[in-house]
Amino acid sequence: MKELHHAEAGAGMPLVLIHGFPLDHTLWHHQLAGLHDVARVIAPDLRGFGKSPQARQVATMEQHARDVAQLLDRLGIERAVIGGLSMGGYVALAFAELFPKRLAGLVLCNTRAVADGEEARKTRETVARRAIEEGMAALAPILVHPLLSEPTRKAHPELIGFIEAMIARQDPAGVAASSRGMAMRPDRTPMLGQVQVPALVVTGSSDTLIAPAESEAMAARLPKGQLVTIPDVGHLSCLEDPAAFNTAVRDFLKRVK
Ligand code: MLT
Repeated sequence: MKELHHAEAGAGMPLVLIHGFPLDHTLWHHQLAGLHDVARVIAPDLRGFGKSPQARQVATMEQHARDVAQLLDRLGIERAVIGGLSMGGYVALAFAELFPKRLAGLVLCNTRAVADGEEARKTRETVARRAIEEGMAALAPILVHPLLSEPTRKAHPELIGFIEAMIARQDPAGVAASSRGMAMRPDRTPMLGQVQVPALVVTGSSDTLIAPAESEAMAARLPKGQLVTIPDVGHLSCLEDPAAFNTAVRDFLKRVK
């Protein structure tokens, strides 16, 4: 595969931030702008998203994790803090399982370790088909709604348009490939207890897609886990309250060696 596209800013400890579904690296623009004094922030577009090469039929979380490892190779980076939001968190967990020695820390935002149930798997296939048949511009207004909390939608209505445009510009084939890939991911709950590096779990008190209780459970299983719940924030914590999010990551990075 050709290499992943990425944006980066800053120097020091590499901090890889992996976007959610069906988004791209621009989700992290406040982190690229606001954390570059404490880390080398690296935000890739996963294959099939943004400006990265196209995906084939199915893009598994393990495949995405290998792509991230290849990107690190290309950048000459051996160890990094790996972070991800939602689907990006599934990829970060796959990375932690595949490349534990390359992990300096883990940042899991609005995500979960458990696999999809049967209903969720069916929905993944429906989303994949609809992306291909109807196109992303048709799906964007439907998909954007549950991502942001009610308070965010009221206080920052401009974010609705920002996210909707991000979804609308994604390649339908890439979206379908990752939707199918997410359906295939295993339950990674058992490996949480083996993560030896510091881990930050971030959630929003108003995340309706992945309930804060799931994040609490995940943080409790991580031996060096720490939970931060940002008030009034939904599924896109890094974008909905960047100041609180960046403060949490800054504090966390002090624990990482
Ligand atoms: C995401 O934001 O990446 C998605 O909500 C993940 C998912 O559908 O499980």
